[in-house]
Amino acid sequence: MELYEAMTHTPSCRYFTDEAVPKAVLHRVFDHARFASSGGNRQGWRFLVVTDPELRRAVADLHRKQWDPYFLHALEGTVGFQGDGSGAKMEHGTAYAEKRLRRTDDFAQVLHEVPVLVVAYVELATLAVTDQHLDRLSVVGGGSLYTMVQNVMLGCTAEGLGTALTTLLAAEQPDVDALFDVPDGFALGALLAIGWPVPGKQYTKLTRKPVEEVVFMNAWGQGLTT
Ligand SMILES: Cc1cc2nc3c(=O)[nH]c(=O)nc-3n(C[C@H](O)[C@H](O)[C@H](O)COP(=O)(O)O)c2cc1C
Repeated sequence: MELYEAMTHTPSCRYFTDEAVPKAVLHRVFDHARFASSGGNRQGWRFLVVTDPELRRAVADLHRKQWDPYFLHALEGTVGFQGDGSGAKMEHGTAYAEKRLRRTDDFAQVLHEVPVLVVAYVELATLAVTDQHLDRLSVVGGGSLYTMVQNVMLGCTAEGLGTALTTLLAAEQPDVDALFDVPDGFALGALLAIGWPVPGKQYTKLTRKPVEEVVFMNAWGQGLTT
C-alpha cells in the first residue's frame, strides 16, 4: 500500500472479526514502526501485546470502568464528540455524532473479544518535557510515544488490519501495572486495539478539516493554500 493511501485510510475500527492476528504480522508492523522519531532518539516506548483471553478481559474491564460513565455523560450532551476535532458534529449534525458515539460503545462493550490489545507505555526518565514549567497543560511528553503509535496504526493499515486508539485506560494505570508487573517509572499513554475489520462495517471515508483550516502560513489564521 502506498503511504498516502495508508494515511488517508486509517479510521478508528470499531468492529473486528475474532480471527487471530499472526505473530509474524505483528512483528513486521512493529519492526517498521520502531523507526519513529523520539526525543534524543531515546526510544523510551514499550508496547505490551496482549493476546491471552483472560488478560484481554481484564484490560477491557478496566477500560470500561472509564468508558461507561463517559458514555453516559456523552449521550446526555454528546460531550467530547462535539469537540473531538473531527468536525463531525459541525458537518453532519447531532445524529451523526450520536451514531459515532454508539459505534464506540459497541466497541468498548466487546473490547475483550478484539484479538490483540496493545498497551503503550513510555519510560518517563527518557522524556525531555520542554513545556513542563509553563502555566498550562503539558503536551510535549507524549510526543515521544505517539509517533510510534501512529506508525503502528499505519503499518496495520498496510497489512489490512484495523486499529482503534484509546487513551481512557491511562486513568487505570495502577491496576494495569499490577496486571503485567510493570516496573516503576513508566507512563501508560494508549491502548491500541488491533484485528481484522468486519467488512462493510467500517467508515470508508474519513472526515477531517481541510488543510487551510489547520495549517497556517507566515501568520496565524492565514491558511496554507495551493
Ligand atoms: C489521543 C486520542 C484519544 C482517543 N481516545 C479514544 C477513546 O477513548 N475511545 C475511542 O474509541 N476512540 C478514541 N480515539 C479515536 C478518535 O475518537 C477517532 O480517531 C476520531 O473520532 C475520528 O474517527 P476516525 O478516525 O474513525 O475518523 C482517540 C484518538 C486519539 C488521537
